[in-house]
Amino acid sequence: MVYSSVLVTAVALALAAGPQPVIGTITSSLQYVLKNTHGSKEYEYPTDITRDILPIPVHSHNDYWREKPFWTGLSKGCASTEADVWLYNGTLHVGHDQSALTEDRTLESLYINPVLEVLDRQNPESPFLTEPTKNGVWDTAPDLTLYFFIDVKTSGPETFKAVIQALEPLREKGYLSTFKDGVVKYGPVTIIGTGETPLDMVAPVSDRDYFFDAPLANLNDPEFAHIDGTISPIASTNFAAAVGKITVDTDPILTDEQLNSLREQISTAESRGIGARYWNTPHWPTRTRNLVWRTLLREGVFLLNADDLDAVAAYF
Ligand SMILES: *[C@@H]1O[C@H](CO)[C@@H](O)[C@H](O)[C@H]1NC(C)=O
Repeated sequence: MVYSSVLVTAVALALAAGPQPVIGTITSSLQYVLKNTHGSKEYEYPTDITRDILPIPVHSHNDYWREKPFWTGLSKGCASTEADVWLYNGTLHVGHDQSALTEDRTLESLYINPVLEVLDRQNPESPFLTEPTKNGVWDTAPDLTLYFFIDVKTSGPETFKAVIQALEPLREKGYLSTFKDGVVKYGPVTIIGTGETPLDMVAPVSDRDYFFDAPLANLNDPEFAHIDGTISPIASTNFAAAVGKITVDTDPILTDEQLNSLREQISTAESRGIGARYWNTPHWPTRTRNLVWRTLLREGVFLLNADDLDAVAAYF
């Protein structure tokens, strides 16, 4: 405190004494250095693909709908992404509905390969390593896992079986979070099956590298009462249905009754080691959207679900 006020005073005096410097201008000799270091080897940073990106607790909702699936969400720092998958003739195609599917847009081409590319860059071979690394996608937070929701659209059992097979390249490199001997070990990518993913292809499996998106508002129903964070690290639900419709645009944005529902759902999840995510939150008007985001973060959701990534990145 004392130190900083002394510093501020010193800067103020210096500014008052000399010719006024223009903040932000740099000398031509410094500009020369800045320009010409580019390209020389000592200024190449090995794991730079996500340099300067600070991850945010945001799920890139319907990520595959974006112009550059996976990459856009990565560039905004989204801690979680999502692909809808459809199984036809042995191939997992990615898209929102059947008319959006093509031969080229597959789970492998749009997600598995790009994720592998980033992780391979984040885990280079190096004579300096004392042991192999398992860095995550974020250079600023290499221990943080990337959540990847795979939303099964075609018949659950066949499609999820194909998903498990499709994960092989990530599995082979040890990049997946695992559940084994009763313990979850987080790796660079955490796969969460949603949509038509059958719970009985996840919950009873004692050695696996995939998880289940449980219904957040129904965790106390008998069929979901056994679910904890080792099966569902994150559970999700429809905000409008489970909490209610928003009718005001002032803080508090939720009625007491809505707030109680929200708190009860989040604390039930938390008591079982499960993080909460709400989809179908209002996206308009902007002030309503932001007040709901504010409230959800204050109440302890694990991930915000966002469609407009520019807006959510600016919000954080
Ligand atoms: C699947 O294969 C059958 C038989 O080869 C073909 O007629 C059909 O068009 C294929 N469907 C898709 C979606 O590729």
